Amino acid sequence: MEHNSVIEQMRQLIQLIAKHNHAYYVMDQPSISDSEYDHLFHQLKALEQQYPECIQADTPTNKVGGQALSKFESVTHVVPMLSLNNVFEEDELLAFANRVEERLPNQKIQYDVELKFDGLAISLWYENGVLVRGVTRGDGETGEDITQNVKTIRNLPKILSSRDQPIPQLLEVRGEVLMPKAGFKKLNRHLKKRGEKEFANPRNAAAGSLRQLDSQITKTRPLAFYAYGVAQCIPDNNVDTIGDNLEWLKHFGFENYDHWVVDSIQDAQKKYEQLIVERSNLAVEIDGMVIKVNSLEQQKQLGFISRAPRWAVAYKFPAESKTTEIRQIDWQVGRTGILTPVARLVPIFVGGTTISNATLHNIGEIHRLDVRIGDKVEVYRTGDVIPKIKSVKFDLRLPNKEYELIQLPSYCPVCNSPIIMPEGEALARCSGGLYCAAQRIEAIRHFVSRKALDIEGLGDRWVESLLHLDLLKDVADIYHLHTHREKLLTIEKMGEKSVQNLIDAIEASKKTTLARFIYGLGIRGVGETTARMLANTFQTLDALKAADVEALKKTPDVGDITAEWIADFFQAPHNIEVLDRLMAAGIHWDAPTAPTRQPLNGESWVVTGTLESMGRDEATQRLQALGARVSNSVSSKTKCVVAGEKAGSKLEKAQKLEIRVMNEQEFLDFLAQYQA
Ligand code: IVH
Repeated sequence: MEHNSVIEQMRQLIQLIAKHNHAYYVMDQPSISDSEYDHLFHQLKALEQQYPECIQADTPTNKVGGQALSKFESVTHVVPMLSLNNVFEEDELLAFANRVEERLPNQKIQYDVELKFDGLAISLWYENGVLVRGVTRGDGETGEDITQNVKTIRNLPKILSSRDQPIPQLLEVRGEVLMPKAGFKKLNRHLKKRGEKEFANPRNAAAGSLRQLDSQITKTRPLAFYAYGVAQCIPDNNVDTIGDNLEWLKHFGFENYDHWVVDSIQDAQKKYEQLIVERSNLAVEIDGMVIKVNSLEQQKQLGFISRAPRWAVAYKFPAESKTTEIRQIDWQVGRTGILTPVARLVPIFVGGTTISNATLHNIGEIHRLDVRIGDKVEVYRTGDVIPKIKSVKFDLRLPNKEYELIQLPSYCPVCNSPIIMPEGEALARCSGGLYCAAQRIEAIRHFVSRKALDIEGLGDRWVESLLHLDLLKDVADIYHLHTHREKLLTIEKMGEKSVQNLIDAIEASKKTTLARFIYGLGIRGVGETTARMLANTFQTLDALKAADVEALKKTPDVGDITAEWIADFFQAPHNIEVLDRLMAAGIHWDAPTAPTRQPLNGESWVVTGTLESMGRDEATQRLQALGARVSNSVSSKTKCVVAGEKAGSKLEKAQKLEIRVMNEQEFLDFLAQYQA
């Protein structure tokens, strides 16, 4: 066969395969059967085997990539990849158009209206019609070389060919890589079947697929590329508008989505309103519209301001909301014991992600919305935040259906301890404290932290590993870790030496102070200062345990509510059990010496501004040593404000409330009178 006719055949097959790929991966509408597709593929492969000298650079049979990369190379963009300013409302859009018109007086202005794709921007570099490089946007100045991965994207030309247009020597095309919705669903179904982690939304799936070091993986992912601009073309293609540029790109096989050239900004607004409605029917995910001054000459006149063009703007869509049903409510116990109601929903695709849970914040929110199990609710999400419930669709309540009222549980769903919700408070909590598994990990972290028992080496990662190994259930277990040397050595990166260091650090922590110990218990409302006050006031742990609310209230720094919390803590039998085990393990402290003279007992002080002679921390400590409580905010209860240089609003407030203010010298003189 003549080489020309071989090439002709190969090109036909390549184009056919590309067409079917598009139908299959992008539109999710296969245009031929799998076996017909395989047949085309084998025909092409057979030709290539027979005529290797004719193999086309863009052949789909070509295994691009081969070896996985260890990392991507950095590439500096010759033309920086800038960003767009956002607008959200019609007023802001009109203001954008006004700014454009002011700079182009008496000129007719047309706008090119495009979709704002929710994917990843890339730059493609073609030399003499051959794709030589694909680079991510990166920080706009420098991106990553992802050429091998880009070459696996099916609807993107690897070789430029055109019947009627000359091939430029250099062409740099900009556009977005994304995963069409249908391909995304298919990929997630596949991942789920194989027990692998699914992607949260098409954008993440596109990003995860494009940044694979092994392009063989990228190749299996249904990615698509849509062009939205030409960064460089040599020689000049003599095109005058962005709209025409997008059409020109089509000659070479680039796909771009629909775009519209309009004569006024009001028409752009109309298009926006129309797109909001049509958005959910599009094959790809979009998060708004991009409106660009159509004339390239006018774009040049307008130029850029900081990192964004004056000639374009992104008109973002409002957060999408959809209606779905509440199946049930689960109560999650947070690290500090706070109970959060989580609505389990009939899954629904909204804002680019399938939502199956939404937070209801607290029981008050449930009452405010009057939401019940079985209700139809409107859910929405913005950015990456947790989905929220906007409203209940009361008109969709069926007359014959039971809608169960949502009740705050009486007992913790994790540890079965009673739930407490003091009068006038919005948040309900599990009273389980150290006993509750959900609170345990945080409690342990707090107990070992620097200001508490200060066990160096028992960092967050260890705590998690130890919990997984079942070696830690509560803080008292820390003091039994030395009996599990063997198991400790099984933890990754835990050698003999680190195990010994950890055991030594735990042993050393046994000698502490009563104040540190009380702080380490993580009792609600008991910070460092309160712990010190409690230690000073009660002197022994037994006395503190035995104190009733009245006695606790008399402690400086302890208000009515904190007093209740402290009493609750020492009344819970499991807390007492943990305390007993801690003491039995050998935790000890020196009996506090006779209380030091504490002339500022019960007084609230504030330190603000910059002090020359000492840091704010030291000033705080010296005041605390004299018995003062040092607070961050000024109120009518504040006894005195120490104001250093550049003191601001706190000083103003103190003056307004006529509270005593000391400058640095007065403060130093004041301290001096108490020094022995
Ligand atoms: S034009 C100089 N057109 O939006 C501005 N960008 O914030 C060049 N994007 O990173 C951008 N769809 O990823 C343009 N039709 C479109 C777009 C679009 C999505 C993204 C792009 C860029 C970001 C700008």
